[in-house]
Amino acid sequence: MAVALVTGGSGFVGRFLLRELVVAGYQVHATYHGERASPETPPDGVTWWPLDVVSPAGWRTVLDGVRPDVVFHLAGLAHVGQSWQDPHRYLRVNFWGAFYLMDALARAGFRPRVLLVGSAEVYGIVRPEDNPIRETQALRPVSPYGLSKACQELLGFQYYQAYKIPLIVTRSFNHVGPGQHAGFVCADFASQIARIEAGQAEPVLRVGNVEAVRDFTDVRDIARAYRLLVERGRPGEAYNVCSGQGFSIRDLLQQLLGMATVSIRIETDPRRYRRVDIPVLVGDPAKIRAHTGWVPTYALRQTLADILDEWRQKIR
Ligand code: GDD
Repeated sequence: MAVALVTGGSGFVGRFLLRELVVAGYQVHATYHGERASPETPPDGVTWWPLDVVSPAGWRTVLDGVRPDVVFHLAGLAHVGQSWQDPHRYLRVNFWGAFYLMDALARAGFRPRVLLVGSAEVYGIVRPEDNPIRETQALRPVSPYGLSKACQELLGFQYYQAYKIPLIVTRSFNHVGPGQHAGFVCADFASQIARIEAGQAEPVLRVGNVEAVRDFTDVRDIARAYRLLVERGRPGEAYNVCSGQGFSIRDLLQQLLGMATVSIRIETDPRRYRRVDIPVLVGDPAKIRAHTGWVPTYALRQTLADILDEWRQKIR
C-alpha cells in the first residue's frame, strides 16, 4: 500500500483529497496547522501530524515518521486579495514553507514523488491572443500571492534538477465547491445570498470587480486531478489544472441570483477591489488531459447550487 502525505490536509482542497486517496487505497497521513479539520469532514484512517511549514525541525519529524511514497504539498496561503495586505507573510509561508520541504527531502535517504500545488496567478496578465493559457507561457505574476507561487515553482524545479526529486508542479486555476471559506468569490456571494434569504441582512449583495473572467473547476474534480498527476504526470513538468472555459464574475453572480428565493440589489464595494486584478485567466487543459486522462465532470451550475445550499444550511 503506497503511503501518501498531504500537507494542509484540513484545508479546502485537502479534505477532498484525503477522501480521494483513502478510496484509491493509499495509506494516508496529513498535516494540519492550528485548528484541526472540522470533525465531519476527515475520513477515517487518516493519521494526523501537526506541522508549521516554516519549521525545518517540524518537517524532519513528519518526513522521518511517515517516510512517504508521495507528497502532496497543499499547505499555504491562498487569498490573492489578502496577499496585497501582507506580502511578506505570503512569501514566507508559500516560498519558505516549500523550501524547508525540498531541503529536508534533499537530505533524506528516500525520494517520494512530490506534487507542489501552484497557481495560475503565476502567469499574470497575458495578451488576449495567449488565452487560453498554455504551460509554455512566461511567468509574470502581478500579485504578491502569484509571486510567492512563482518562486515556489522555480525552487521546485531547481531541486528536481539538482537532487533528482521527482517533482510535478500544478498551475491550478480557480477551484470552488462546498467547504470553501468566505473571502473567495463564490463563497462571498453565496454566503450573502443565504443571509439575505434568512432575513439576517438587508437585500443588498456587495461585490468587487465583476468584469474579471476566471476558469472555475469543482474541488472534487481538482482532488482527482492531483491524485492522477502524482500517479501519471511527468516529473520536472508543470501542469495547468483547469476546465478551459472562462466565465465572468458577472455570469457567476447572475447564476447565483437566479437560484435565490428573494430579489436582491447589487452594490459595488470599493474594499473588494484589488490594486491589480488579472482581467482574464483561462487555461488550456490539453496537457493534463493528454498525460493523465483527467477531465472535469462537474458543471459550474451544479457546483454553484451545492455552494449555495451549503451556505443556506450553515446560516440556518
Ligand atoms: N473574493 C472576492 N470577493 N472576489 C471578488 C468579489 C468578492 O466579493 N467580487 C469580485 N471578485 C473578483 C476578484 O477580484 C477576482 O477577479 C475574481 O472575483 C475571483 O476572486 P477569488 O475568488 O478571490 O479568486 P482569485 O482568482 O483571486 O484566486 C483564486 O484562484 C487562483 C487561481 O487562479 C484562489 O483560489 C487562488 O488560491 C488560486 O491560486
